[in-house]
Amino acid sequence: EKGGYEHFMLKEINEQPRSIADCMRGRLDSRAGRLILGGLRDYMNKFQNADRIIITACGTSWHAGLVAEYLFEEFARVPVEVEYASEFRYRNPVINSRDFVIAISQSGETADTLAAIELAKQKGATIFGVCNVVGSSIARSTHAGSYTHAGPEIGVASTKAFTAQISVLSMMALMLGYQRGTLPESKYMELLSELEAIPAKVEKALKLNEQIERIAAQYKDARNFLYLGRGYNFPVALEGALKLKEISYIHAEGYPAAEMKHGPIALIDEEMPVVFIATQDSSYEKVVSNIQEVKARKGKIIAVVTEGDQSVKKMADHVIEIPRAHEAFVPLISVVPLQQLSYHIAVMRGCNVDQPRNLAKSVTVE
Ligand code: M6R
Repeated sequence: EKGGYEHFMLKEINEQPRSIADCMRGRLDSRAGRLILGGLRDYMNKFQNADRIIITACGTSWHAGLVAEYLFEEFARVPVEVEYASEFRYRNPVINSRDFVIAISQSGETADTLAAIELAKQKGATIFGVCNVVGSSIARSTHAGSYTHAGPEIGVASTKAFTAQISVLSMMALMLGYQRGTLPESKYMELLSELEAIPAKVEKALKLNEQIERIAAQYKDARNFLYLGRGYNFPVALEGALKLKEISYIHAEGYPAAEMKHGPIALIDEEMPVVFIATQDSSYEKVVSNIQEVKARKGKIIAVVTEGDQSVKKMADHVIEIPRAHEAFVPLISVVPLQQLSYHIAVMRGCNVDQPRNLAKSVTVE
């Protein structure tokens, strides 16, 4: 059942080229210039005319929501709010019938997310679900939705569900941008093929596994880790840190790289591994100066970079080179080495990777 892998988590990490492709199959065809999400058909009007998009979720799904905030704002120019379901539901939030709420959940059973949906529904908003488990409670309680089609995810640490969620949300953002006229046709067409090219790039990124295993061996005894990224890679930093915490029990924090100097920089010394996601995108130069700040304080630098990058190599202790992609879709690739890093560290520390202590696959209590 683990398909020859030692753990479900590793199997699921490696399934990503296929699960992302499965998620886009029948929906996206760049050559035909076609993008269809069946679940959106009856709600396209609401979606297109929404004053605001509110995304609600927990954990990794909330991180996917943060990536979507960047996508929707960049491509469709709609204001987006991303809310932890547990906070949203108890805050008496301002919601009305012109809001379009997207609830993201792998299991479709998360109690807080379900309650947030009920609340938004009462206030007259349209609720759209992005779920993996077919027929789950959240899938049934939303007005409409699109499944992620990632297949069953058994490992408690979410991996392939995350990339499938981002795939669905990317398709939604492109569709919305095109319909609202904020994405010109030529740009839209180009982005469709960029997105379609992602599974092959993820396949290539997976080949870094052995290099990452060696890095893991070097840092498995660290007591803390910092993960830093900016722009589209900021949520990836949060996700990398969460993966490490939950399966290896090493304390890790994810931060937007520029926030480091407002506090966490005090933690940096020669014992502190800092994982940077420093791909060549619009925040690259800024991230490079953040790397220099860590270097000056003798932190150990592990950097995920775009293949061929020369500048970061001169500063970092380790560089992990991933294929170049459009910056909006880089999270689909840059998260993969972070999943592998946490996996290997957890295995080397003798942790129960698929079923970490104190955690359940779906959190059905608040
Ligand atoms: O099933 P859901 O996507 O609603 O679950 C949300 C979180 O409980 C979940 O993502 C959790 O944070 C994972 N264990 C992260 O790997």
